[in-house]
Amino acid sequence: MDIRKEYLDFFKSKGHEIMPSSPLVPDDASLLFTNAGMVPFKSIFTGDVPRPTPPIRTSCQTCIRAGGKHNDLDNVGYTARHHTFFEMLGNFSFGEYFKKEAISYAWEFVTGVLKLPVEKLYVTVHEKDDEAYELWQKHIAKDRIYRFGDHDNFWAMGDTGPCGPCSEIFYDQGSEHFNGPEDYMGGDGDRFLEIWNLVFMQYERASDGTMTRLPKPSIDTGMGLERVTAIKEGKFSNYDSSIFMPLIDEVANLCKKPYKYETGASYRVISDHIRSVTFLLAQGVNFDKEGRGYVLRRILRRAVRHGYLLGIKEPFMYKLVDEVVELMGGHYSYLNDKKDYVKELIKIEEERFLATIAAGLELFNEELAKTKEIFSGEVAFKLYDTYGFPLDLTADMLREKNLSVDEAKFDELMSEQRARAKASWKGSGDAAKESGDFKSLLEEFGENKFIGYDNLESTSTVLALLDSEFKRVDSLKDAKSGFVMLDSTPFYGQSGGQCGDMGEINGNEVVDTKKYFGLNLSQIIAKNPIKVGEKVSCKVSLQRLEIRRHHSATHLLHAALRSILGTHIAQAGSSVEADKLRFDFSHPKPIASDELKKIEEFVNAAIQKGAVAKTEIMDIEEAKKSGAIALFGEKYADKVRVLTLGCSKELCGGTHVENLNEIGSFFIVKESGVSAGVRRIEAVCSASAVKFANELRKEINEVKENLKTNEPLTAIKKLKDEIKSLQNELKNASSTKAVEVEEINGIKVVVAKFDGDIKSKIDDLKNQFDKVVVFLASTKDDKVSLGAGSKNTNIKAGELVKAIAPIVGGGGGGRDDFATAGGKDASKLEVALNAAKQFISEKI
Ligand code: ALA
Repeated sequence: MDIRKEYLDFFKSKGHEIMPSSPLVPDDASLLFTNAGMVPFKSIFTGDVPRPTPPIRTSCQTCIRAGGKHNDLDNVGYTARHHTFFEMLGNFSFGEYFKKEAISYAWEFVTGVLKLPVEKLYVTVHEKDDEAYELWQKHIAKDRIYRFGDHDNFWAMGDTGPCGPCSEIFYDQGSEHFNGPEDYMGGDGDRFLEIWNLVFMQYERASDGTMTRLPKPSIDTGMGLERVTAIKEGKFSNYDSSIFMPLIDEVANLCKKPYKYETGASYRVISDHIRSVTFLLAQGVNFDKEGRGYVLRRILRRAVRHGYLLGIKEPFMYKLVDEVVELMGGHYSYLNDKKDYVKELIKIEEERFLATIAAGLELFNEELAKTKEIFSGEVAFKLYDTYGFPLDLTADMLREKNLSVDEAKFDELMSEQRARAKASWKGSGDAAKESGDFKSLLEEFGENKFIGYDNLESTSTVLALLDSEFKRVDSLKDAKSGFVMLDSTPFYGQSGGQCGDMGEINGNEVVDTKKYFGLNLSQIIAKNPIKVGEKVSCKVSLQRLEIRRHHSATHLLHAALRSILGTHIAQAGSSVEADKLRFDFSHPKPIASDELKKIEEFVNAAIQKGAVAKTEIMDIEEAKKSGAIALFGEKYADKVRVLTLGCSKELCGGTHVENLNEIGSFFIVKESGVSAGVRRIEAVCSASAVKFANELRKEINEVKENLKTNEPLTAIKKLKDEIKSLQNELKNASSTKAVEVEEINGIKVVVAKFDGDIKSKIDDLKNQFDKVVVFLASTKDDKVSLGAGSKNTNIKAGELVKAIAPIVGGGGGGRDDFATAGGKDASKLEVALNAAKQFISEKI
């Protein structure tokens, strides 16, 4: 049975629209990852955006619960049903149906479609929810309905956001298999398995904990695909089902040891984690030192360490990607395109961690032997900092030994990095967006129209004005800053990487234009008073012409990268301005200079060839079929603009040239890495390209003038040769400097201050004499360099240096015949030389 399909079809037959799975990285700064099916609909539940038609939806949403409020990472592998990555089936009602229908749909699906035996089902409701208690009694005997408190029957998305009491359906896996003391309804055992959670969304929780009623009571439900699949297949653990067994078998294959459930936690960890890692990478998240990328790194490293426990000491996770794509690529087709790229990134990350894992484990074991109860926070930090062991990996290893780690100390040492990591994802950072009057504008006018594809000027009507706090006002004056909403606007609102337009409205300067919940708002400085309802004359700054050239050039660059480096290239961000462009994309390694040259040539050839831009409006599905490149994770409307620019075809709402010729020429200015697996190209075109070329010419002219030649390269080569030969001369000259040679017991002894190449001098002396011991010291600024050599004597150079170096505040050592050291205290040089003399004379 294809449960995913049966579920979506069932709710479709009840009038729900099927929604595709939203990205794992939500459009919501308060969350780390999409952790439930309702996340993409949050603003509809809270009423921040108007409800869609039809107001009932269904989806199969990919979710990650690692980090953040719902964090299952630590449990994965040790329980039958925790996952970092899973798929959640859900049906949603935005103020349309409520408890009665939600309960009866759920019952019909569970008993009618899944055909689970009624005698194995139980339900729970919130202890105060009499209504749900009554409603369930129509379907199931009263003694199978349990009432629990907030801990079990209240669900919240995160610390803030929509929430409400819930009702859960449980499946009894049988007392014959599960009869531990915790295997009772409401207990912690595995016998009663929760399969479906129906949340009656009624409140929104604010950051101070207060709960306000939602505008309309709504429904959010969630059923884990992995759980129902296991139940349908008669398996007690999700990991025994057809979703995981092929992966577990592959792990067994790789480590060449058969899998047994009782001792198989490592196999399960790996088979779970590879799914998270594959999906996150395929969706553009990358291994990183902080934020989401760090959670991804933690997941991978945890899996690598479990591989290590199974005896796998080389990269292997990447080999499992084929199986994940085999299992999931049918439903999530983007996995197929990204397969090779994902494998490459995983392999690099595995290699990186494997390089330090053995040394890290050694340090861990050393400290473990000394640990009685609490493992040292300093060592945990060192494991993190030097050996790449995330704290939860260390904690995980300790849990196996029933020990814990001194997290307070670790946190103290980490606090700085922590603050940075948090800042990158926590808190929406845009309070205005949350408190502004956007909703009332959306309800009254809907989204306003952008007419600036063809017009840079217009006469438009002011629909609304907002002050600088985004509160609606009737007028703006006295040079106050505020926002104008026009009925139709020629100003482009910053989106899709393209910067917002500037210009004038009734002579008032437009400093920027942005989009807020789909509303296009221009920010003005109201020197001339402006009123709601007024007709105004609008003029977009001519900078726009340069902006659009850079935007079109970005599309050509994207096409060039895919053509020259491969189709794994996926846009990871872009910025288009009047004088530069920046394009970030997935690619595992730096781009060689000959490749950069080819990319630049490709773009310039397309510009010179020229092509008239073609824009078509089509259905999103039709657009994707036509081969147009869409950005993963971008929300697109049902109708989209497909832009063809010669060899490039992309979905894009931005503004572009009419003919590629307009771009003039294109130069790559810089190539760099943004994070693991993400590269950045910065480039210029049109007027900025001319400026760039002029600056290069100016620089080279200055070089020529300085070198007084027209052939700077030949001159530089000559200079380099000269420097080299001078350096050699200097070295030779210094090593031939005389030093005083004494003789003690037939052995030549040299102890001296020597400002030259110490090593060459020691070699010289060793060549010159048959039995010799040398100790030389030189100083530079306040630093001291020491060197010792010994030939055919009983003095060991390493020991000599080791004994003397501490006098000048240093350390070092080396071989018996040659050793060096450094020191920080030049004032002790004489003392050191005397000590060396004494050391030698005492020994020979
Ligand atoms: N949002 C609810 C959950 O995740 C259905 O359990």
